[in-house]
Amino acid sequence: MLPCPIVSLSNGQKIPILGLGTSHHGGYSHEAVVYALRDCGIRHIDTAKRYGCEEALAKAVAESRVPRDDLWITTKLWPYDYGYHSAKQACLASSARLGVDYLDLYLMHWPDCMVPGRSNRDVRAETWRALEDMYDEGLCHAIGVSNFLISHLEELKDDCGIVPHVNQVEFHPFQQPWDLVRYCQKEGIAFQGFCPLAKGQALSHPLILGLAEKYGRSASQICIGWSIQNGVITIPKSTNPQRIFENCQVFGFQLEEKDMALIGTLHDERHVSWDPTLVK
Ligand SMILES: NC(=O)c1ccc[n+]([C@@H]2O[C@H](COP(=O)([O-])OP(=O)(O)OC[C@H]3O[C@@H](n4cnc5c(N)ncnc54)[C@H](OP(=O)(O)O)[C@@H]3O)[C@@H](O)[C@H]2O)c1
Repeated sequence: MLPCPIVSLSNGQKIPILGLGTSHHGGYSHEAVVYALRDCGIRHIDTAKRYGCEEALAKAVAESRVPRDDLWITTKLWPYDYGYHSAKQACLASSARLGVDYLDLYLMHWPDCMVPGRSNRDVRAETWRALEDMYDEGLCHAIGVSNFLISHLEELKDDCGIVPHVNQVEFHPFQQPWDLVRYCQKEGIAFQGFCPLAKGQALSHPLILGLAEKYGRSASQICIGWSIQNGVITIPKSTNPQRIFENCQVFGFQLEEKDMALIGTLHDERHVSWDPTLVK
C-alpha cells in the first residue's frame, strides 16, 4: 500500500489527502469501515451528525484497533444546532457518540441557518464563535465550514477571528468551482471535495472511461486521482470493501497535464448534492 500524502492546514494540523466518506445516503456498512481502516490503510473518516452513524463509527474504529491518535475524524454541525450554546452541546454530543475526547475537524455543515427572524449572517457568526472557543479549548483540533461560497466566507472573515481551516465543497468532473478553489487557496483555507465520483455519475462518462483504459485504471481511480492531483482533499464513499480497496489505489500513477485539462472540460455546473448558490 503506497503511503497517503498529507495536507498541512493553516494551523499546522496534518490531514490525509484521501479519506473515507460515510453518509445516510446509500447506507452504512460496518464491515466496509473496518476493512478500510484495517486493510486499506485509511486514516481519515468523514461523517456528520446528520448521517446518523457516529455511534456505529465508534464501534468500527474500536474493532479496527487503529489508535485514536493515528486517525483523522471529521464530523459536522447540523443547522438545527446552530447558535452559540447549542453548537457547543452538539459538538460534545457528537464527540460522545464517536467515543472521542477531541475532534480533528468540526465543520458547520451548511450556510443556511433556518432561524426565523434572524439573518443567516448573524447566526453563522454566533455559531462560528462557538467553534472558535471549542478550538481554543482543544475540543476541536481544526474548525471549518462546508458548502460555503466566497460571499459566506467573506462575511465570516469580517465578523469573526479565525479563518476556517477547511471548506468542504462538492467537487468532481461535473462540478469544478475554480473561483472558490482559488479564493480558498488565497485565504489559507484547505479545499476539501465531496462526491468525487459525482455519486457514481462520472463513472460511466465516455471521457473518464477512455482515460481509465489509457492508464489501466478504473473510472473511480481516474476521478479520485484527478481530484487529488488538483491538491483537493478527497473523500469517496463506498459501502463495498472491494470498491474501497480500488478507491485507495490512487497514489501510483499521475495523469498527464493534457488529460487533467480534458477532465477540466467536463464541468457543466451539475450538483449531485445540494446547491448553496441561493443561500444568502
Ligand atoms: N458536506 C456535505 O454537504 C456533503 C455532501 C455529500 C457528501 N459528503 C461527504 O462526501 C462523501 C462522498 O460523497 P457521496 O457518497 O455522496 O458520493 P461519491 O463518493 O461521489 O459516490 C458514492 C457512490 O459511488 C459508489 N461507488 C463508490 N466507489 C465506487 C467504485 N469504485 N465503483 C463503482 N461505484 C462506486 C457508491 O456505491 P457503493 O456504496 O455501492 O459502492 C455510492 O453510490 C460522503 O460519504 C460524505 O462523507 C459531504
